Amino acid sequence: MGEPLVLGIETSCDETGIGIVRGRTLLSNTIASSMDEHARYGGVVPEVAARAHLEALQPAIESAVAEAGIMLRDVDAVAVTSGPGLAGALMVGIGAAKALAVSLGKPLYAVNHLVGHIAADLLTGEEVEYPTVALLVSGGHTSLLLVRDLVDDVELLGETMDDAAGEAFDKIARILGLPYPGGPEIDRAAATGDPNAIRFPRGLSRASDMADHRYDFSFSGLKTAVARWVEQATAAGETVSVPDVAASFREAVVDVLVTKALDACARNDVPRLLLGGGVIANRRLREVAIERAEAAGVAVRIPPLSLCTDNGAMIAGLASQLIMSGRKPSTLAFGADSTLPV
Ligand code: KG4
Ligand code: ZN
Repeated sequence: MGEPLVLGIETSCDETGIGIVRGRTLLSNTIASSMDEHARYGGVVPEVAARAHLEALQPAIESAVAEAGIMLRDVDAVAVTSGPGLAGALMVGIGAAKALAVSLGKPLYAVNHLVGHIAADLLTGEEVEYPTVALLVSGGHTSLLLVRDLVDDVELLGETMDDAAGEAFDKIARILGLPYPGGPEIDRAAATGDPNAIRFPRGLSRASDMADHRYDFSFSGLKTAVARWVEQATAAGETVSVPDVAASFREAVVDVLVTKALDACARNDVPRLLLGGGVIANRRLREVAIERAEAAGVAVRIPPLSLCTDNGAMIAGLASQLIMSGRKPSTLAFGADSTLPV
């Protein structure tokens, strides 16, 4: 087979993503999000997400196929995220993918969501080089990976021990009375705040953490520190400056993310850093990553946001790469694995 035409399905969280690629060429990338439905709960509700996927899948497939200008029967393979993610949400996508593959008589590829984020970089049309360190930060995950080869050598260096980075933004926004999703709100509020107004803790960054948790993250201590600071200031009758708290909180998160990512580059002698996940939309994160990476001689890659947030194109892109390297398809017996390792 030359360049395979692949349809990818992504339903690991609250985005129903359908993407179609030919080889490394992006043909369409349709995303339907149930984020609005989760807003009143202040976070993603698994069953609400699963039900939303069930309703959104068919129209999303139709619009992705139309946009790509292909016939569904022409796809060479179907790809789907089998984990990690929310089990119920994953199951909806997997069920649809199996039905589609069987009815079309085409092979099915079950792929890893995190490796999919790394594959997003292949669809930018630019030359991609390995090894690279990858920092993936979203509402569902915060992972640092060492990618020597996309197809068969991706190593998880570390991940969050508690909240994901995006989740931390969402929780702090709630404390500050800002709406969900909190990331963009905090980013906006922080623009006029002083990042050095309050020194919030950087999780797992002490010398004593380096032996076991050098590349791991923890945001729960930071969350508690912000909550306590706001509580004490309020009790003391002081006015809480939302911009200052937002900027200081954002600085703590960004500092720890960039420091650990560049430490991974230095210690593994890798001069490349790939960023992915919805939190990459954060202006300060991009700024600090680019600035500090340049000083460290590390080249930073940030795919367009539509490929950074959860999407089906990255899943199709990864499967396309697996096919081109001769990987056999999955048997139909696989299920959802919410903690699937890379
Ligand atoms: O990758 P993504 O779209 O999807 C899931 O995780 O499902 O990421 C969404 C997360 C949310 O937690 C949101 O608050 C966060 O990314 N986010 C941001 C920003 N924009 C979105 N976090 C920080 N700064 C932003 N500008
Ligand atoms: Zn993701």
